[in-house]
Formats: sequence, C-alpha cells, structure tokens
Amino acid sequence: MQYQDSSADFDLFRGFLVEVCGIELSNDKEYLVASRLKKVMATYQLESLPDLVQRSRSHSGREILFAVIDAMTTNETLWFRDRHPFINLENTILPELSKNNSPIKIWSAACSSGQEPYSIAMTIEQYTENSSNPSLNYSIVATDVSESMLDKCRQGIYDEYAVGRGLPEEMKERYFHPDTNGVLKINNQIRKNIRFKAKNLIESFRDLGRFDVVFCRNVLIYFPHSVKLDILNRIFESLLPGGYLLVGGSESLAGMADRFEMVSCRSGIIYRKLQHPQSH
Ligand SMILES: C[S@@+](CC[C@H](N)C(=O)[O-])C[C@H]1O[C@@H](n2cnc3c(N)ncnc32)[C@H](O)[C@@H]1O
Repeated sequence: MQYQDSSADFDLFRGFLVEVCGIELSNDKEYLVASRLKKVMATYQLESLPDLVQRSRSHSGREILFAVIDAMTTNETLWFRDRHPFINLENTILPELSKNNSPIKIWSAACSSGQEPYSIAMTIEQYTENSSNPSLNYSIVATDVSESMLDKCRQGIYDEYAVGRGLPEEMKERYFHPDTNGVLKINNQIRKNIRFKAKNLIESFRDLGRFDVVFCRNVLIYFPHSVKLDILNRIFESLLPGGYLLVGGSESLAGMADRFEMVSCRSGIIYRKLQHPQSH
C-alpha cells in the first residue's frame, strides 16, 4: 500500500508517539517513519498516519498501538555494553550491597532483547563465585515497552551474530548451551533470577517494587527533557535508600543534582540516590 503524508500528518504522528511512549522524533525523520511503519500500515490496512493514530486510539486498537510502538523503538544492544557499568557493579556496588545480607534487587528498565539483564546476572554469578559470600541472593526485573523484544528475552536464544557482539568466550562457554541450528541458549543458572515484564516508562512503575540498583541505559536519549526528568524522578522514588542508578554513556542526569550524587569509580561514573534530597 502506498501512503503519502503531509507534514501536518507527520506532526500529528510525532505528537502521538511522544504521548504513547515518550519517543521524540526530530522533524527530519519522515523517511524513518515511512520505512518503519510500512509493514504495520499493510498488516492493518491503514490508509494514512491520521488513520493509524485514530485506529490506535480506539478501543479495539491496542494491537495496532503495540505494533506501532514496536516498530518505532530502536532496540540496538549488546552484551556487557560499554563494559564499565558491569565492572562498577562488580567492584563497587555488589561488595557494598552484599554487606547488608538481604536480597539484592535490580531493575533493567529498557532491556531490549535481554543482553543487559543477562549480562547483569552473569556479573553477579561471577562475583558470587569469586567472593567469600557464595549465597548472595538477587532478583532482576527486566522490562521493556516492546512485546517482541520481551519475547526474545524470554526465549533467551541468540544467533552467532548476536553472541559475537561483546560476549566474552568464557561467559559463552559457561552460561550458554547449543540449541538447534547453531544458535545458543542461555542456561537456567542465569535466567532463573530474572523476571521479564512489559513496562512503558512513561506509565507508573510503582507496581514493580523498589530496587537497590536500576539500569536505565540508552533509552532516555529518545525522550524530550520533560519526559526524561519525570522518569528520573520516578526512578528516584523506586530506588531504596542509597540505591544506584546507571545510565548510558551519552546520558546525563542534568537537572537532578538535588536527588542523585555522582560517584566516581575507577571505571567511570555511577549515580547514587541522595539520602537527604535537597528541596527546591
Ligand atoms: C537502544 S535500546 C537499549 C537497550 C539496553 N538498555 C542497552 O543499553 O543496551 C532501547 C530500548 O528502550 C526501549 N524503549 C523505548 N521507549 C520505551 C518506553 N517508553 N518504555 C520502555 N522501554 C522503552 C526500546 O524498546 C528498546 O528496547
């Protein structure tokens, strides 16, 4: 199906996308919208962007809405992305939290196809083996807005290309087993402490509980400043006292200095919830 959009239609869609999942498109992204939505338009026989917006908003349009969000998210990820968050988890965060002798609760807040939460679990398993505290209890909640990404997470199956992106050989041998057609499947030691759940970051996440550590990496960049601040404020609320927040390399916590302190580790920066946030 062919569809032509005026810039007014494109603006309507841009506003709709921010409203439903926070993602902000610059006004030169018309080509991206056209190519990403091509399949959705054809599948649901949508005639134009206004038609898509209208149908997505309707009672029966939830499936279309999810398909649109799915198509418009960027799911780029890799194992142990940027390395330093995982080094800091192992060298700074886990030694501190394990002193409390209570289960460590971690949230991977935009987990894409699972590499992030699985990398966190591998880091904890390795830490546990190397430390004098072999019975470290932990749970990871891994969420994303994209249902198709959550399906991939739950399957835990990765092809050679995905495995080749940042997964150390040693981890591959220890924590995966071969599945059919040469793909690798994550083993139960790593998946058993992870719960996958759909969560749109622009909606309340109170139902998830509270956490010692939140990974919210490489997703805030897609949101306008006001949405980003709102999400960071709610992450602050969902962190336990003294809890840690890890964001992506190109993401900053500008405007949040009254809520988080920067902790400089040997391997980069992490953020810690201030015990006594300053009021404005
Ligand atoms: C670039 S990936 C980052 C994955 C991983 N955190 C990392 O750093 O490798 C961004 C992820 O954010 C998810 N996402 C985008 N908007 C979201 C929203 N409003 N709520 C939850 N997840 C969202 C996308 O589906 C995608 O999987």
